[in-house]
Amino acid sequence: MTAVRADRETAAGSGTGAVIEVRGVSKSFGGAAALKDVSLSLRPGEIHALMGMNGAGKSTLVQILSGAQNPDAGHLEIDGRSHGVLGPRRARRLGISTVPQRRELVMSLTVAENIMLGALPARGSLVRWRSVAAEARAALARLGVDIDPAVEAGTLTVAEQTMVEVAREVRRGGRVLILDEPTACLGAEAAEQIRAMVRRLRDGGMAIVYISHHIDEVLGLADRITVLRDGAVVASRGPGESDEDGLVRDMVGRDVVSRRPERTARLGEVGLGLRGLGDGRFVDGLDVQVRKGEIVAVLGPAGDAQSRLFDVLSGRRRPDRGALEVDGTRVPFGRIGRSLASGLRCVTGDRRALGLVPGLTVDENLLLAQDRLDRRRLHRRGGLSRRAAPLRDDYRVVSLARNPPVDRLSGGNQQKVLLAKWLATGPAACFLEDPTNGVDVAAMADIHVLIDALAEQGVAVLLASSSAEEVMRLADRVIVVRDGRPVAEYEIEKITRDELIAAVLGGGLS
Ligand SMILES: Nc1ncnc2c1ncn2[C@@H]1O[C@H](COP(=O)(O)OP(=O)(O)OP(=O)(O)O)[C@@H](O)[C@H]1O
Ligand SMILES: [Mg+2]
Repeated sequence: MTAVRADRETAAGSGTGAVIEVRGVSKSFGGAAALKDVSLSLRPGEIHALMGMNGAGKSTLVQILSGAQNPDAGHLEIDGRSHGVLGPRRARRLGISTVPQRRELVMSLTVAENIMLGALPARGSLVRWRSVAAEARAALARLGVDIDPAVEAGTLTVAEQTMVEVAREVRRGGRVLILDEPTACLGAEAAEQIRAMVRRLRDGGMAIVYISHHIDEVLGLADRITVLRDGAVVASRGPGESDEDGLVRDMVGRDVVSRRPERTARLGEVGLGLRGLGDGRFVDGLDVQVRKGEIVAVLGPAGDAQSRLFDVLSGRRRPDRGALEVDGTRVPFGRIGRSLASGLRCVTGDRRALGLVPGLTVDENLLLAQDRLDRRRLHRRGGLSRRAAPLRDDYRVVSLARNPPVDRLSGGNQQKVLLAKWLATGPAACFLEDPTNGVDVAAMADIHVLIDALAEQGVAVLLASSSAEEVMRLADRVIVVRDGRPVAEYEIEKITRDELIAAVLGGGLS
């Protein structure tokens, strides 16, 4: 510890050894408290995990640490100096770096250009490209990652994009790194790469704030775990003092059980059929027949294959080859209206870009799909809040204000609105892309029960997921996809979680 601190002169002067002390911070939105008297210390060389249910206040605390929001009460002490109002510029100057959940790279620029954005070394008006590449390479090397600085950011995997964002922050001299759900919807291998990078930075003396809903990940990674509930700190412990059940109780206030049910519904005819789907790049030769009452998962690393499936099934994009059938009827590709009319409902993994209408309220978003599909309703839109209430309950949508614009909801709550919006329309078949992305442990258990119920009602469910746990919990069958190609198929009852992960990683079954 002392050795680590010695080379960070700016951390000296703070009596506690902390880079940042959060002291009694409170923050309200429209009179309702998002944070209540929160205190914690961030120390160099420590990974400090923040956990809590959706809406608990984690991202709000991050915004205060990064200067994007000012606290109503309390202050931050940075290197022993007190800051009531920080502001984003000063936060950055003091070495506080934030990588938000949504990637902010410029996809058409190279990795090196993204890392050096706003700091391109120039002589006169000429950018010195050779030193751009060299500096970018050095920043990546500090993270211990092997990414070619010359490739376009758009060609990287989601995990690599995160690494490039971190490299940019590290190069700018960050000494506090805040990661808001960096492993949400990453596969096992990619998540481990992110954790390896985080450990390396920690060992180099950085203070790291790490937000995640994955309990085992946090238990294996964090040096300290602080749990927020309804905006207040309810526990702050070392990992040795925490276990899974205890953490769940701290977060939720009770135990959460999630069990795979016995499926009682008999499987019907094929409700959703995909034949020979291919676009020569992201999906290649995918054949899936999902029967009514069945849940079939496509498991692979998050990203291209999944979102391409969403684009194709929802009618946004025509593949090069293949055919789609819903309920025995051929559905033409490339027509959103025809996809909807077939009874197929597709829930995107990119809720912000494709899922929700940000200017509309939560209730309006919840009922939008239902009412569009039933045009008589569109002209008589009375009783919105009465009709939305059961959906809010079933999906545990919580917010400080009663019915705010949907973009004011916390990330996990937006995800719940997205699912409720589509699943409440009485689908014949559905495609779900990472349905519990960013959702807390209690809401996840509820959503899994709602998806079970869809299958029980005879809906054909196709699930695209990056989580082996989720697939083991929900699916009847799983197709493992690598580089867009199906490489193996298993009945869930005949495989263990570890075997499934091995199959994803390419080890195959023993
Ligand atoms: N700008 C804002 N205006 C109004 N309410 C807000 C605003 N920002 C956050 N909130 C509310 O503050 C509460 C805390 O939100 P926050 O985003 O901090 O939750 P979180 O712990 O990050 O949840 P999640 O796990 O879902 O991301 C939520 O009820 C949210 O709706
Ligand atoms: Mg959040």
